[in-house]
Amino acid sequence: MFPRKSSAWQRRRLKGVLAVDDFEPLARRYLPKPLFGYIAGASETNASLADNRRAFAEYGFRPRILNDVSGRTAVRRLFGREYAFPVGIAPMGISALMAFRGDLVLAAGAQQSGIPMIMSGSSLISLEDVAAMAPTAWFQAYLPGEPDRIDALVDRVASAGFGTLLLTVDTATLANRENNVRAGFSTPLRPSLRLAWQGFSRPSWTLGTFLRTLLTQGIPHFENSYATRGAPIFARSVMRDFGKRDHLNWIHLARIRQRWTGNLVVKGIMHPADAVRALEMGVDGIIVSNHGGRQLDGTVSPLRVLPEIAATVRKRIPVMLDGGVRRGTDILKALALGADFVFVGRPFLYAAAVGGIDGVVKAADILQSELLRNMALLGISRLEEMDGSLCLRMRGAAASKDAIEA
Ligand code: FNR
Repeated sequence: MFPRKSSAWQRRRLKGVLAVDDFEPLARRYLPKPLFGYIAGASETNASLADNRRAFAEYGFRPRILNDVSGRTAVRRLFGREYAFPVGIAPMGISALMAFRGDLVLAAGAQQSGIPMIMSGSSLISLEDVAAMAPTAWFQAYLPGEPDRIDALVDRVASAGFGTLLLTVDTATLANRENNVRAGFSTPLRPSLRLAWQGFSRPSWTLGTFLRTLLTQGIPHFENSYATRGAPIFARSVMRDFGKRDHLNWIHLARIRQRWTGNLVVKGIMHPADAVRALEMGVDGIIVSNHGGRQLDGTVSPLRVLPEIAATVRKRIPVMLDGGVRRGTDILKALALGADFVFVGRPFLYAAAVGGIDGVVKAADILQSELLRNMALLGISRLEEMDGSLCLRMRGAAASKDAIEA
C-alpha cells in the first residue's frame, strides 16, 4: 500500500537534524514554494503564530537538586492507553501532497514511536485505509451544521474502527490566509504555469511525491469530508464540499455525543466557559488550540489561557494543548501550566515530507529524548511531579499567579 521504509535519499537528508526545527529548512528546499508556504504560514499578520512561540519563551524553570532521577519515565496514559510520552501528531490536511501517502506515513511513524496520530478530515487518503493500518489513530472531523451529513460521517468513522473522534470547532469560516495566496497556494489548487514551474524546480518532490501519487493513486480527492468520497483537489466544487460550517453549534455537538460511543474530543477551545460547557455535554477531552495561528489572527497563544481552562475542568477530563511546541522544555512548561498531553503539527509534517517514516520517528525521538533529559536536569522522575513550583513566568512578563502560587 505504501513503502514502510524510508529511501536512502530520505535517510541521508535526516543526518544533520538535531532539533525538530531543523526539519523546516530541509522542507523548504524539498517542497514547492506554495506547499511549503501552506504549511509554514498562518493567517493575516501571523500574530498568533508568533505568540505561540513567544508565550513559551516567557516561562523558565526552577530546578530541584540531588533527587535520584535514574528511574525516570515519560510514559503517560490517555483514554485508557499508554503512550511513550505525552506528545501526539496534530491533524494536518492534505498531508499526502507533502509526503507520498502522507497520512499513512504519519500514522506509521506515530505507531512506531508509541504516540497518537490524529488523521485530518481534510485528507486525501481514505479514513478506512488509515484505520486499517493504524487502529490506534484518531480521526478529526470538520463538520457542517447539517444533521444528515453529521450522522453519516460519524457512522462512517465508527464503522472504520476509530476509537477517538475529534471535532475541530475553530473553523466557522475559511481563514484569511494571505500568505497562501502570495505563495501561490489555493483551494482548489489551480493548475498554472507558475505552479508547474514551482513543481519542476523541486524535482525530488515532483518525482517522489507528486508524479508517484498520480501514477499509483490517481488524482487526489478529498476522501473524508463526508460519508462519500469528495471532490478532486483541482475541482471548483471543493468549496461546496465544505458545507455550512458556520451553522455548527452546541446542539450539533450534543447530537454527535449521542451518536458517537467512542472517545469524543473537541479541538479549538480557548475560553474557560466553552471548556465547562463541553465538559457538561459529555466530551471526553479538549484540545486548547488556536489552530497553529491559522484561523483568527490575534488569538492569543493557547499556553496563555491554559491555566484558567485547566483549573476549571482538569482532573475531570484530559486537557490537551497544541501550538508552538518545539522542545522537550515546551512540553514540560505546558504540563506545569495544566496540560495532560500536547500535540505538535508542522515539524512532523516537514519530517514526513523530507524523511518519510524515518523522519517522523526521528522527530518523535528528538522530542522524547529532550523531554527525558530535561526531566533529569529539572530533578523529576515522573511527569506528575511537574508543577507550577518548577516553572515560573520570567522577568519582563507579568507575574503568573499559577506559576508562583502552585
Ligand atoms: C493544520 N491544522 C489543522 N487542524 C485541524 O483540526 N484539521 C486540519 O485539517 C488541520 N490542517 C492543518 C494543516 C497544516 C499544514 C497545519 C500546519 C496545521 C492545525 C493543527 O492541527 C495544529 O492545531 C497546529 O498545527 C499546531 O501548531 P504547530 O505545532 O504547527 O505550531
